[in-house]
Amino acid sequence: MSSDLNQKIYVAGHRGMVGSAIVRNLQAQGYTNIVTRTHAELDLRNQAAVQAFFESEKPDQVYLAAAKVGGIYANNTFPAEFIYDNLMVQNNVIHQAFLSGVKKLLFLGSSCIYPRLAGQPMSEDALLTGKLEPTNEPYAIAKIAGIKMCESYNRQYGQSHGIDYRSVMPTNLYGPGDNYHPENSHVIPALIRRFHEAKVSNAPEVVIWGTGTPRREFLYVDDMAAASIYVMQLDKSIYDSQTEPMQSHLNVGFGSDVTVASLANAVSAAVGYQGKISFDTSKPDGAPRKWMDSSRVNHLGWTPLVNLDAGLKKSYADFQKTNPI
Ligand SMILES: NC(=O)c1ccc[n+]([C@@H]2O[C@H](COP(=O)([O-])OP(=O)(O)OC[C@H]3O[C@@H](n4cnc5c(N)ncnc54)[C@H](OP(=O)(O)O)[C@@H]3O)[C@@H](O)[C@H]2O)c1
Repeated sequence: MSSDLNQKIYVAGHRGMVGSAIVRNLQAQGYTNIVTRTHAELDLRNQAAVQAFFESEKPDQVYLAAAKVGGIYANNTFPAEFIYDNLMVQNNVIHQAFLSGVKKLLFLGSSCIYPRLAGQPMSEDALLTGKLEPTNEPYAIAKIAGIKMCESYNRQYGQSHGIDYRSVMPTNLYGPGDNYHPENSHVIPALIRRFHEAKVSNAPEVVIWGTGTPRREFLYVDDMAAASIYVMQLDKSIYDSQTEPMQSHLNVGFGSDVTVASLANAVSAAVGYQGKISFDTSKPDGAPRKWMDSSRVNHLGWTPLVNLDAGLKKSYADFQKTNPI
């Protein structure tokens, strides 16, 4: 074990929400040799720079949590950037990791790889069985290519070079380091900001778009980091028992979902907002349900530790730290 703790580990995207949680968790486990570069120091779209980085650092393991990430508005407005940046980042990192002798790599994807009309809960087998949601198709195509990059390198070089590149697909994540931007954030940080602002201004009511009935799944980011490291550390024979060479990704979700209405109530309680919550039913609801089947990763021995109420309290504390009144 002590030799493992000396492994040189490169966490790509260490200032992002997931990458920073992975670094926190690795440090808590006693890993001391963690390599990082900010976006300004190393643009992962730049092939020559990524090659030079891997040649000089020669890490043993890589967590690939760097990506261009955004909500519906950003995905719709910048589709070229979403496909180009993500393909370049992951192609450069995976290929240069291989060339420099990295044996273990974990690629982080997303639940948007699954078809728009996938059955619920969405299982790993739903990949490539139907049309994607058009709003984030370019991003999803890049993420699917990332899974297939890992699989193809394993299939061609797994035996000859002893490489083992794995992929995890997180559900919606929230927690410290989230993006609380008023227009361009995911549902939980957006609700935290809205309920916080309503509390501070004594607003009598917060209006939520839609009927409140759609169901969504959320996972606290430290649970995602723990799952990532758990999956990376699994013996190959155990990982292989729940995956196939060309179906090698694992879903990582909370295991159950909540309605938007109960989410709004839970955020309101975490923030301490006393006013009323109402629903503007003239606004669209989106998909009725988005929920991942995480039974494979559960069978492998990982389950989440932080429930929604506890996670929201921690998230609100993080919001208050980063957004003082
Ligand atoms: N957040 C979620 O709900 C969620 C859900 C499912 C999957 N995921 C996946 O988890 C991974 C991490 O997401 P996250 O939420 O942690 O995103 P994030 O907070 O936006 O972090 C992404 C990190 O990647 C860096 N990065 C982006 N482009 C880069 C480039 N060209 N060169 C170097 N660094 C670059 C960013 O740096 P800058 O900020 O400086 O650009 C940032 O530090 C992604 O693959 C995402 O698809 C996230």
